[in-house]
Amino acid sequence: MKISVVGTGYVGLVTGTCFAETGNDVTCVDIDANKVQKLSNGQITIYEPGLEKLFERNLKQGRLHFTTNLEEGIADAQVIFLALPTPPGEDGSADLSYILKVADHLGKIMTDYKVIVDKSTVPVGTAEKVREVIAKNCKTPFDVVSNPEFLREGVAVDDFMKPDRVVIGTDSEEARKIMGELYGPYVRQGNPILYMDEKSAELTKYAANSFLATKITFMNEIAILCEKLGADVDMVRRGMGSDDRIGKRFLFPGIGYGGSCFPKDVQALAKSSQEADYDFRILNAVMDVNEAQKLFLIPKVTAYFNDVKGKHFALWGLAFKPNTDDIREAPALYMIDALTNAGATVSVFDPEAMPNVKSVIGDKVKYAENQYDCLENADALVIATEWSVFRTPDFEKIKSLLKQPAIFDGRNLFEVSRMQELGFHYESVGRTPAKI
Ligand code: UDX
Repeated sequence: MKISVVGTGYVGLVTGTCFAETGNDVTCVDIDANKVQKLSNGQITIYEPGLEKLFERNLKQGRLHFTTNLEEGIADAQVIFLALPTPPGEDGSADLSYILKVADHLGKIMTDYKVIVDKSTVPVGTAEKVREVIAKNCKTPFDVVSNPEFLREGVAVDDFMKPDRVVIGTDSEEARKIMGELYGPYVRQGNPILYMDEKSAELTKYAANSFLATKITFMNEIAILCEKLGADVDMVRRGMGSDDRIGKRFLFPGIGYGGSCFPKDVQALAKSSQEADYDFRILNAVMDVNEAQKLFLIPKVTAYFNDVKGKHFALWGLAFKPNTDDIREAPALYMIDALTNAGATVSVFDPEAMPNVKSVIGDKVKYAENQYDCLENADALVIATEWSVFRTPDFEKIKSLLKQPAIFDGRNLFEVSRMQELGFHYESVGRTPAKI
């Protein structure tokens, strides 16, 4: 099938590449000429494990094309995916201007039946708006479909190729048939394509992400309570997660959720809800708790040193989670601010995200060559992201490099008892506090 993907950001590029992988002819359109040139020359513009190989292969085999020209890019396409940014506006609602601008343009240039697919996370009612804007100028029949993505950064290729489910929101038989054909190869293992009305599809995405954010936040509060009551959140988590109705995943407490989706989607759902004259109280609480959780370790660090002024900290992990260079809403950045504002200095190390951090905060911190260089002259180690490379470090080396054997771990990487045996002052999230 010939398809177009408008927007070559994270979602657009993964979507385009993965559709090409099953033999479709894909043209990706972006207004950023520099990006289009890079991509056309085989230079991938995002970090996502496994994507580069697929991207190179499909580009080489001529199934993946890039252009800045929308008219040319959609001319032969049967399906046009809109994978455009929907940043939060000042009031927290999703800004639809990018999507509606492209929709308006599409209405003027489409000359035969096409299915236009909202892939971006958009509030309920967006498909309707897109349809209205296209219809203003369009002379041919067309359908608008809501088909939200559920890609996790770091495993997006797998999530796309073997999705838990594909949600397709439309009441058009023709669009349904085309979308079913397009997604057929991805659900061979038997996972469902769920057809529904477009509003339910739009809401499903927000509901899923907000539920997951709530699940994490609930565990973060349980972790706080564990510390107060002397319980161990690892035990409580296992005890809870063994119940199928709860499930084991997304129960890991930490220093808050971040990234490009959860914070934005929870905020946007709360806002949509407000607009629908309903105060979604749980979501407001989730946002409040998560904001505070990002700084969960700071009082622990401050209490240990009495005052962090003049102290130097090593910080491992900057990305909001492992296997990505994404630093949007990353707890590490909030911690850097808190520590430096309190008069401390910070050295950082992250396997992928250092260039991004540098472009945002410049020389506010020192960028280390590797995780051990980062420790030199540091009073303590703070861990913000659970990269695998941090999981089994050389503890003796850590001890010899730190001025004091103190580790503040926001991701519960190590066993508390082991760390005590090794002689560390070790504090984590929701587990028995260090006795040393
Ligand atoms: C998420 C959704 O999972 C995906 O379906 C959607 O399309 C986009 O948003 P992503 O933001 O890539 O994906 O990351 P995810 O792996 O879901 O983690 C989100 C955040 O939750 C991270 O900050 C992570 O550290 C945190 N998290 C996750 C926890 O704190 N505890 C957990 O148990 C799981």
